[in-house]
Amino acid sequence: KIYHDEDADVNIVRSKTVAFIGYGNQGRAQALNLRDSGVTNIIIGNIDDDYAKQAREDGFNPISIEEAVSQGDILMLLIPDEDQQTVWNEKIRKNIKPNSTLVVASGYNIAFNLLDLPDDMDAVMVAPRMIGAGVRDRYVQNIPYPCFVSVEKDVSGAALATCLSIACAIGATRGNGAVGSSCREEAGIDLFAEQALWPEIMAIFREGYNVLREAGFSDEAILFDMYLSKEPAEIFERAADEGFVKQLKYHSRTSQYGQLSTMNRNDGNEIREKFRRVLNDNILSGNFAKKWSDTKWAAEELAKEWKEVEKAPIVQADQRVRDVLKPDRKK
Ligand code: NAI
Repeated sequence: KIYHDEDADVNIVRSKTVAFIGYGNQGRAQALNLRDSGVTNIIIGNIDDDYAKQAREDGFNPISIEEAVSQGDILMLLIPDEDQQTVWNEKIRKNIKPNSTLVVASGYNIAFNLLDLPDDMDAVMVAPRMIGAGVRDRYVQNIPYPCFVSVEKDVSGAALATCLSIACAIGATRGNGAVGSSCREEAGIDLFAEQALWPEIMAIFREGYNVLREAGFSDEAILFDMYLSKEPAEIFERAADEGFVKQLKYHSRTSQYGQLSTMNRNDGNEIREKFRRVLNDNILSGNFAKKWSDTKWAAEELAKEWKEVEKAPIVQADQRVRDVLKPDRKK
């Protein structure tokens, strides 16, 4: 389901007090967009940091998270996903106004039941597929951008109308419109890309390097061909603009034949099985989210993985090649 401007009534959000919890990438962009859409009761709840300073520079008057929560009919929860559960338990939960609506910009914390929602609270997702600066710039320039929306908990019966009103006021229902999704779907696809798709792609590059190096080829030649030339970035850009396989027309006929004949004969059985295990056993089961909620464990594990990856030959080769590049190419 796709929702357009015509499906939304922006007056709903204009009649409410909207409390922002966080004024970072998304918080700032969305607050400025709401203000420009005629929402007059915007409260910024922020800890005393540079983001609060930015809010003051933008003409807001940031107050504590606890105070902002206690005044908001709509709570825009826009702090990093990994901090949401702790901040919710310590500063938000006990100050929530009756019959209010929670709005999240990513599915993670709702999908894995990490927020203890009051019985009378509605919960919706308005998740731009775009960095905060893009959400702001495109609003100002009247350019559409992709966004996922969903209703997760509808006690009032009006959650969808509230959700679409906010989406419209931040400019997310313009053009092609906002895509109806769910927190489970949004978080599932996001984590799948992080835990299945991209690690596999990185492992393929790592092993590609290992095999070419075994053949005696040079670091510079391998790495320039693989990614220093930025060719993969260009391929994906063309895939997005013109089509996943249609971009092949920019490659030589030898390249087209090599890619198509090899991919068409790869039945994918092994990788499909592996991907299913990651998606079902680790992600959708909630096992990953449960482990990742233990912030001490998470920080230690992430540090361990960073240490481990330094041992990979491709990472060391990357550093060697970078060290001999001219400064203007090191970026
Ligand atoms: P951010 O990293 O820019 O957040 C900074 C804000 O969080 C600041 O206001 C800061 O004061 C506050 N904050 C940080 N740690 C805190 C703590 N321990 N206690 C209280 N406040 C704290 O966050 P960002 O990137 O805007 O993400 C917010 C939400 O938007 C997340 O759910 C994220 O998944 C989602 N999102 C982010 C996108 C992006 O491009 N950054 C794109 C789409 C969704």
